[in-house]
Amino acid sequence: MSTTTDASRTLRVGVVGLGFAGTTHLDAFTALPGVEVIALAGQEPERLRELATSRGVPNAYADWQDLVARDDLDIVSIGVPNSLHHPIAVAALESGKHVFCEKPLATTGEQAQEMVDAALRNDRVLEVAYNHRRRADVQFLANHLRGGQTAGDAVDTTDDGALATPGTGPIGTVYHARASWLRRAGIPGIRSWFVNKETAGGGPLIDLGSHVLDIALHLMGEPTVVTASAVTYNELGRAGRGGSDRDPVSAATGRPFDVEDFASALLRFEDGSSLLLQASWASYSKDAEDIEVELLGSTGGARLFIRDYATEGTVTLYSDEQGIPTVTRPGVQVPAGHHQRVIEEFLATIRSGRHDGHHGEFALHRSRVVDAVYASAQAGHEVEVVR
Ligand SMILES: NC(=O)c1ccc[n+]([C@@H]2O[C@H](COP(=O)([O-])OP(=O)(O)OC[C@H]3O[C@@H](n4cnc5c(N)ncnc54)[C@H](O)[C@@H]3O)[C@@H](O)[C@H]2O)c1
Repeated sequence: MSTTTDASRTLRVGVVGLGFAGTTHLDAFTALPGVEVIALAGQEPERLRELATSRGVPNAYADWQDLVARDDLDIVSIGVPNSLHHPIAVAALESGKHVFCEKPLATTGEQAQEMVDAALRNDRVLEVAYNHRRRADVQFLANHLRGGQTAGDAVDTTDDGALATPGTGPIGTVYHARASWLRRAGIPGIRSWFVNKETAGGGPLIDLGSHVLDIALHLMGEPTVVTASAVTYNELGRAGRGGSDRDPVSAATGRPFDVEDFASALLRFEDGSSLLLQASWASYSKDAEDIEVELLGSTGGARLFIRDYATEGTVTLYSDEQGIPTVTRPGVQVPAGHHQRVIEEFLATIRSGRHDGHHGEFALHRSRVVDAVYASAQAGHEVEVVR
């Protein structure tokens, strides 16, 4: 089912959250044509006033309920602590608004399911901010893996393609992958909502792991994860080590640090392939911060390695040329603005009136995988992913 939106009509947006995420959403929407941010909500009064004034937003609220209650919004954009994604999204979707939501979709797969159900019931778009997937190097790899791009080609950053037919691309069948986001010392606010299970749903696995899981699944052609075998640890955080100076804008909660600071999981796919997923906010293992996704194929390999948010030299391709092991490093440049690109796609989906596949379904699978990782770590054995 889909509902046509007059493509020429200005879409009215309400943004919830004033931290990194909310501000990034606000600036991305403000910069795009055909949209107008008419409402903003957040609990830091001074910052709320400053952002509303500097960005020309006419209505400002402390609480999200007052923003969502407006009947003149087309879109609610969510950049708040993870546990608030579900109530805000459901209320917005049930009142006929489209929703752009930060990752992770929810703190549990069950809540994610309720959000997807609300999106389907109301035929509203529910899109999740997997902004790193829109990096030009990830898009380059997606195009390359399905055989559409070589090292010298211009990068098509709008292409959402992954492997068209698994096993037929230049690296053959991908049988194993590694995906990790590992920080040396980067706990995002050691007394903030990020470190509490109830407000965040988990630690670096749900925070950073969400992004690299998304990239890996996207590059692998959306295989279905069937089981997870995982371990999690909280060795540095609980001892007060591994903090960073990048505190979120939300006030300290005083809640306990009861999530992991490191997670490692082996995921098995329906087709027999597998993925090793790791995430840390803090570990004595890295110079600073490394994002890595590596695909091992039957006839070649591909690696994305981003040190400290590098914007070039991040892609390596492995192959055999006339029987000789060959390494290629295509010179992909990565411009900024990944949030803006995912928001552009979100707006295009709304305007197209074709919403199928845009009710949060991919994000729901990722939430269920995250659930299985935590359940496995707690149980001490492999568990099945809910389907
Ligand atoms: N995609 C990315 O690259 C990326 C980066 C950072 C954060 N995030 C995600 O964005 C979300 C927010 O993270 P952040 O770092 O911006 O957090 P933050 O703590 O800096 O900001 C959270 C905001 O939510 C507001 N808020 C809390 N309760 C509210 C309520 N009842 N009504 C209205 N506003 C309320 C706070 O006032 C604050 O302005 C999280 O889900 C996080 O995972 C994503």
